[in-house]
Amino acid sequence: MTSQNSPGSLIVFEGTDGTGKSTQLDLLHSVLQDKGFEVVATREPTEGMYGRQIRDLYNNRKKLSLNEELELFLADRKEHIDTLVTPALASGKIVLCDRYYLSTVAYQGAAGLDPSDILKRNNFAPVPDLALLLYAPIQTGVERITKGRGDTLNDFEKEDYLQKVARQFEQLTLPCIRRINASASIDAVHRTVLNHVLQLLEK
Ligand code: TMP
Repeated sequence: MTSQNSPGSLIVFEGTDGTGKSTQLDLLHSVLQDKGFEVVATREPTEGMYGRQIRDLYNNRKKLSLNEELELFLADRKEHIDTLVTPALASGKIVLCDRYYLSTVAYQGAAGLDPSDILKRNNFAPVPDLALLLYAPIQTGVERITKGRGDTLNDFEKEDYLQKVARQFEQLTLPCIRRINASASIDAVHRTVLNHVLQLLEK
């Protein structure tokens, strides 16, 4: 299924941790609302039952096997799509999602699962109209998390693992992907994001 079959648009933000996805999503959300669009902002992992189980893994990832971990991300996504994404797209809304299945391909791929197999396991999910893939040096992202937010790195944010995740993101070649250099200022990144989105919405 693709979101092209529905009146709405699905725009997802992807990238390694600390690249500013949430900041950019918030900025885009308010600009689109000001322009009169109906917008729903959401994220994965969700706040639902499976999303909470995923968050429990953050500081003890070894609790589950890689396959069990993948199953949890897929269950969370299925529930998210059924309860929120598909109904919103069907009613013509723009759905902005902070992380989606390219994160599963990159993160669970970097952990050792087969990326093309992960992509196939996601074929129940609407294909995004745009996947804005933010990239920046891993060191920059890690510093944003530790110094900027004062957080400690969880099991998904260790630097050598994130390097592998970045390589997985680099290898993705799907037509919906737009790569955006997130080392630029918040304003400059926002302008690039907006250009891509307006091009999509004007079609
Ligand atoms: P975030 O809420 O800070 O974006 O964190 C979510 C973490 O979960 C992040 O480190 C990436 C990871 N993740 C996966 O490993 N696979 C997935 O499919 C998704 C959506 C997130």
